[in-house]
Amino acid sequence: MKKALNDQVTLEAAASNNYLAMASWCEVIGYQGAANYFYTQSDEERTHMLKVVHYLNDVGATATISAIKAPTGSFKSLEGILKIALKNEQIVTAAIHKMVEITQKEKDHSTYAFLEWFVNEQVQEETKFETLLQKFDLIGRDKLAINEIDKILAADAADPAA
Ligand code: FEO
Repeated sequence: MKKALNDQVTLEAAASNNYLAMASWCEVIGYQGAANYFYTQSDEERTHMLKVVHYLNDVGATATISAIKAPTGSFKSLEGILKIALKNEQIVTAAIHKMVEITQKEKDHSTYAFLEWFVNEQVQEETKFETLLQKFDLIGRDKLAINEIDKILAADAADPAA
C-alpha cells in the first residue's frame, strides 16, 4: 500500500508538470483561456500530490519524493491537448482504482476512506475533459470555433466549481 501511495505522489507530480507544459504551450500559441485553465489544473494536481504526501506522513509511512520524467512540450492542437489530458486522467483513475482494490484486500479502512475523495474527483475530471472534447464536434474546429472553446476554458479557469 505504501509503495502504491508513493507511486501516486509521483503520478500526481507528473500530472502537474504535464498540465504546466500544456499551459505554457497554450500561452505561447495565444490560447490565453486554455493557458489559464491548464495553469489552474497544474496547481490542482499539485494539491492532489500534497494530499497523498501528507497522508503518508500522517500515518507514519513517510512520503518519498521521486524524480519525474520531463513532460512533452510540443503539441499539435488544443483538441490534441485535451485528448492527452483525458487519457492521462484515465491512467490516474486506473491507478486510484487499483489502490482501492489493495485497501480492500488488506482491509486498510483508513486508506480506503482517504481514497474516496480521489475516486470522486476522477469522475469529475474525466467528465470535464469529455465535455470539452465534445465542444469540437458541436462548435467546430476552425479558428472561430477554437476561439469560442478558448473562452469556455477561460470561464472554467475563472470559476472551476461552475
Ligand atoms: Fe490528480 Fe487529475 O488527478
